[in-house]
Amino acid sequence: MKRKAPDLGDLVELATEARQRAHAPFSRFKVGAALRTRDGWIVTGCNIENASYGLTLCAERTAVFKAVSEGLRDFDAIAVVVDAPKLAAPCGPCRQILWEFCGDIWVRMETLKGKRKTMRMSELLPLPFDRSNL
Ligand code: THU
Repeated sequence: MKRKAPDLGDLVELATEARQRAHAPFSRFKVGAALRTRDGWIVTGCNIENASYGLTLCAERTAVFKAVSEGLRDFDAIAVVVDAPKLAAPCGPCRQILWEFCGDIWVRMETLKGKRKTMRMSELLPLPFDRSNL
């Protein structure tokens, strides 16, 4: 049996807007994210690159860190929007951070052309390492 994904249209719209604020002069690959709490607060993020490359922060982590720093917890979904033929799934470090702060939330991946896929974090990060291991 599969759980039905909630309507994530609003989240995609806000992630699309956030994408326009991306600072991606090196890769030119702009990403937008929007993270939602269970009680409806939404925090956006975009990727922020740096000339030293390694300091680049992905859109997903920007959204998580912004939200946590504002005192928000208990998330239920994140949307990630790119302008590319392929969907962008969160990278490895983002999956670890999303699992740590958000647990098994819905992850909607979408392109500007409307290609979309919704998965659970537990599908994207099976067998996680987390506080239950410590
Ligand atoms: N990026 C994200 O922001 N999120 C993803 O899910 C994949 C990659 C960013 C990092 C970098 O600024 C650019 O996309 C190219 O890797």
